[in-house]
Amino acid sequence: MAVRTAQSKEAGRAPLPLTSRLDKWWIKPVLTVIVLGGFGLYSLWRAFENQFFEFGPYLTPFYSPEVPLEWELAGWKISPAFYILVFPLSFRLTCYYYRLAYYRAFFLDPPACAVSEPFPRKRYTGERRFPLILQNLHRFAFYAAAIFIVILSYDAIKAFFWEDGFHMGLGTLILIGNVLLLALYTFSCHSFSHLIGGRLDCYSCSLVSKTRHGIWKQVSFLNSRHSLYAWASLISVMVTDIYIRSVASGVIQDFRFF
Ligand code: FES
Repeated sequence: MAVRTAQSKEAGRAPLPLTSRLDKWWIKPVLTVIVLGGFGLYSLWRAFENQFFEFGPYLTPFYSPEVPLEWELAGWKISPAFYILVFPLSFRLTCYYYRLAYYRAFFLDPPACAVSEPFPRKRYTGERRFPLILQNLHRFAFYAAAIFIVILSYDAIKAFFWEDGFHMGLGTLILIGNVLLLALYTFSCHSFSHLIGGRLDCYSCSLVSKTRHGIWKQVSFLNSRHSLYAWASLISVMVTDIYIRSVASGVIQDFRFF
């Protein structure tokens, strides 16, 4: 391992991550960069685009709730998506699971378990100093995310009600699937688990504590699959937006079940 550092220095390059691991540990960080980076770029583009966000009763999650506000900054029209996306994005950015994923993938800090950091810091202050101290706002981001579940559930129900009556299209199904995955991600959050089961000295002392214990066990079950819901809901948001954008722009036609 030391040989690799010496060779890198000799060649004038930054030292490579050092490890004795023989498995393909780098696959996860590379996939994270591709999926998370791709999602970030796509969201930014969609927020700037400011069109093709609704079709009939369908409304893409990027522009939900519908707010009539539109700012202009130095000749640029700032679409509502920018101040809508602040809430779900801050929830994801401060998520305990995503922190692990993007600290590893984007900052190589460290890139994986038992793999050294290629650029070790001189001082480590954890998340006690600015800007990382902002990660502690996660619980508040959770409250906002929970409100968004209500808003997106309303959007999914609204997707049945067309001008000419009650119908169900593929878009309706996608919107329902999306809000279900988002609800699984949101309610498997560590903050929610603490909110439900935390600060209790006794689980069996009263009806309230027994009920909280019961819910906490369900939340813990979901929590063990939090990373799965994190990725599935991220992809479902993107799929929902791509579908609605495609039907709104006339690229494809909405498939109607009834
Ligand atoms: Fe991931 Fe709260 S820990 S959303």
